Amino acid sequence: MAKEIKYFELNTGAKIPSVGLGTWQAEPGVVGQSIEAAVKNGYRHIDCAPVYGNEKEIGVVLKKLFDEKVVKREDLFITSKLWCTDHAPEDVPVALGKTLEDLQLQYVDLYLIHWPVRFKKGTTGIKPDNIVKPDIPATWKAMEALYDSGKARAIGVSNFSVKKLGDLLAIARIPPAANQVECHPTWNQTKLRGFCKSKGVHLSAYSPLGSPGTTTMKGEVLKHPVLVATAEKLCKTPAQVALRWGLQMGHSVLPKSVQESRIKENFDVFSWSIPDDLFAEFSQIEQVRLLRGYLFVHETLGENKNIEELWDGEI
Ligand code: A2P
Repeated sequence: MAKEIKYFELNTGAKIPSVGLGTWQAEPGVVGQSIEAAVKNGYRHIDCAPVYGNEKEIGVVLKKLFDEKVVKREDLFITSKLWCTDHAPEDVPVALGKTLEDLQLQYVDLYLIHWPVRFKKGTTGIKPDNIVKPDIPATWKAMEALYDSGKARAIGVSNFSVKKLGDLLAIARIPPAANQVECHPTWNQTKLRGFCKSKGVHLSAYSPLGSPGTTTMKGEVLKHPVLVATAEKLCKTPAQVALRWGLQMGHSVLPKSVQESRIKENFDVFSWSIPDDLFAEFSQIEQVRLLRGYLFVHETLGENKNIEELWDGEI
């Protein structure tokens, strides 16, 4: 099964598996069994973050999978992220240290600044009141030190607009390897995708199914008539079509599921493709950002005062 996976290459030369298991909203108590099911069904890429509240349980199951020789560490690609409370340069290595301890790993394959937004140290929850002014250049320097140390084999960002990514590239000693952003057929990131491509930054898609279970996002991606019609014609599911569309667009996809049947379904996207005539119809789909980020803006902060500024107009 694992031999079927396709990879994309990062600017570090490392290979990132094109399909990874998302773990946002995979609750403690169920996340472990979904990781185990995913790895046993051929997944080699797990997308984690401390803010998801489940890295400890993921660490326990990873150790079990290594001990039982189901998979070797070097064959897995593990991503994690720096939470917004830990942007201070001195907090960055501490945050990665905690993630490595929880995941029971010596290194992560990719470590991302989760948001271009900083929260007061020690605060909990995602609330505008927690926001303080970010200093991305200072945080990035600390990320570069993690890359130098080998504890993060690649470093990157998440939720960065073209402008924010461009500003970072202008000062980076080590350019970001990836930008993980919302991306699916109804938010296809045309502008950001072109910019990332021109700069050698890999685009990775969170919410590749439009997060149908997240009520605040109102994602109806899997019900979109183009997806439904394509799925019917190809005898696939709308979820498989959404993911295959992503692979054909050239980005990695991180579908989350805690159900083994869906975990399998979401991985069955390598041995077939969407033909050109059907693929062309996706470019006509009306675009709307689902995760708008209202809780990551602060009206008096001086930057990211509103969601237009957070996304630099890409909404
Ligand atoms: P569940 O975990 O119960 O399977 P996204 O990756 O875009 O954030 O979407 C995740 C959501 O989509 C979760 O609610 C997940 O529920 C659901 N989901 C995952 N795979 C499928 C699938 N193949 N078909 C329909 N819904 C799915």
